[in-house]
Amino acid sequence: MAVRSIDELELEGKRVFIRVDFNVPIDEDGRVRDDQRIRAAMPTIRHAIKARSKVILASHLGRPKGRPDPSYSLEPAGLRLSEILDQEVLLADDCIGDGVNKMVQDLPPGGVLLLENLRFHSEEEANDPTFAKELASIADVWVMDAFGTAHRAHASTAGMAEHVAERAAGFLLKKELDYLDRTLKDPQKPFVVILGGAKVSDKIKVIDALIARCQFLLIGGAMAYTFLSAKGSSVGGSRVEKGSVEQARRILGRASERGVEVLLPIDHVVALDLEGVGRRITEGVDIPHGVMGLDIGPRTTELFREKIETAGTVFWNGPLGLFENAAFSKGTFAIAKAIAEASCISVVGGGDSAAAVDQAGISDKVTHVSTGGGASLELVEGRGLPGVIALEQ
Ligand code: 3PG
Repeated sequence: MAVRSIDELELEGKRVFIRVDFNVPIDEDGRVRDDQRIRAAMPTIRHAIKARSKVILASHLGRPKGRPDPSYSLEPAGLRLSEILDQEVLLADDCIGDGVNKMVQDLPPGGVLLLENLRFHSEEEANDPTFAKELASIADVWVMDAFGTAHRAHASTAGMAEHVAERAAGFLLKKELDYLDRTLKDPQKPFVVILGGAKVSDKIKVIDALIARCQFLLIGGAMAYTFLSAKGSSVGGSRVEKGSVEQARRILGRASERGVEVLLPIDHVVALDLEGVGRRITEGVDIPHGVMGLDIGPRTTELFREKIETAGTVFWNGPLGLFENAAFSKGTFAIAKAIAEASCISVVGGGDSAAAVDQAGISDKVTHVSTGGGASLELVEGRGLPGVIALEQ
């Protein structure tokens, strides 16, 4: 069922409750370290301000265990938002209650109020109906724009929907659905999928879903060692998920039945430890005893780059090495660059890959960088997201 978009509603004078995902990293000085998610919500927020509605923003931050904890306050996100908007953003000290009701009542048209962390109440994650009703009591319109949290059936992302007069998707949610669902379901061929990250077990469903649609599957990151192990290569002391070797073998078999070409690393950056002691590049695919693979090697990078160049659509999820350590970041950044340079539709999943794209400074050269980690994977797997289903009702 199609969901309504915020620009299809008349918002003037209404109390517009926008569920955003301001779950952003905060540094030791209490400042937002990465404001990508706040910036991504700006089109919806600006639209609601321009429409002269009372703009009520709500989000979670971290996992504060259902009670107030100042280290999880949304205040830093509010400050950053106010800088970006160049407008005052009022911060409530709670997300429900008399104080909040009064602030909403006094909010002028075009004014912005940020509620305090929803997860300071355990009822949020429990999707408690009374709590959901209370949240809905300050809203005429519920706008769901928290794509990163759309896979959670919480009070603010799903439960409150049935208690408001009108509901709509924000621009960010619409955009995410467009790229991660519509584009990847009917990709321009050849469709090249690049998967990395640590665990095969986290990605089995997504691999299964993508094998049915892609022509090439490029695998890097620690999960590549589980696949190499399944193929009988020596992986030395690399991280292998022993319980998933059989699954990896099954995936390789399915890929071959479907005519999907799977490309695994043909060389590696190895070291004695995660700090990079004894760092060197292997001659070929086998990793000697005593060292572990921590990044794809230069020949693999070139092999992957050549494939990316021919793509009609690329989907990338998961770093190709331990990119947090500069000694093992080359492969991930080279692949990010190759994606940016390719003249194809490129979609990057959230989480670590989004951070890598940001650090490589190429976010604006990628067609779409998702703001959702878990949510983007669940959507690509073909699972219905509670935050979207709530909009369809
Ligand atoms: C995320 O960062 O993935 C979302 O904000 C969801 O957070 P959660 O995993 O704590 O529900």
